[in-house]
Amino acid sequence: MTPRSLRDWVQVARRIVVLTGAGMSAESGVPTFRDAQTGLWSKFRPEQLATEQAFRADPGLVWDWYELRRQMIARVEPNAGHLALAAFAARHPGRLTVVTQNVDGLHQRAGSPDVLALHGNIFEDRWLDPARPCCLAQTPLPGRPPRCAACANLRRPGVVWFGEALPVQVLEQAEQAVRECDLMLVVGTSGVVYPAAGLARQAGGPVVIVNPQPSELDDVARAIVRSTAAHCLPVALEPQST
Ligand code: APR
Repeated sequence: MTPRSLRDWVQVARRIVVLTGAGMSAESGVPTFRDAQTGLWSKFRPEQLATEQAFRADPGLVWDWYELRRQMIARVEPNAGHLALAAFAARHPGRLTVVTQNVDGLHQRAGSPDVLALHGNIFEDRWLDPARPCCLAQTPLPGRPPRCAACANLRRPGVVWFGEALPVQVLEQAEQAVRECDLMLVVGTSGVVYPAAGLARQAGGPVVIVNPQPSELDDVARAIVRSTAAHCLPVALEPQST
């Protein structure tokens, strides 16, 4: 399917869900996780860095790695795909829901409302262990990662690590939106990480994949657009000509 023929489907759909993954931000300059050569995971194994166990074993290493990613993301801008999604939502309030696995906040910066961020936000921290009164008493906190000077509790990135549960309410809202949609676009995800990928299998309407490469979700797709997010979405979500 071409981006232009996807536009015909978009124009008749009443409720659209767009599930995005790392490929959504690739054209902004954020490396994906699993693409050969450029993928961050080609240099690091996920279980070395993105787990609670890894953080407890070497908090400085994991903190520094997230700090590097934060600095990189802070320097990039939403691309034409992010902007097209936000512009569509502004023209059609309530008709399009963005559900993202990305922690980079680029959908939000582009202006998409009510983004359902399944894997959290890289710019937010939280306590590793439940906060005690001593943790809350001190600002700013010393150290890298910042820690409570009294009990040594650590601040950790506010993202969902491998083996952790997704935020319950966000997942429930996403599942409901997916069930009720009559068109689901799956953009820039390899479809290997669950439960996020499982959403595409619960869609109330046809699923269209936007990805230049094959993904693990190709079997659920009614149609596939072999194109990139920043190329396809501005065409597919273009305002209807009068
Ligand atoms: N436009 C659309 N898709 C693209 C583009 C692009 N410009 N560039 C790459 N892609 C596709 C790749 O072909 C690949 O299928 O984006 C996908 C990226 O896949 P992953 O790197 O596996 O990213 P994602 O699916 O988001 O990973 C899921 O895994 O590492 C964890 O928590 C992390 O949220 C992440 C989750």
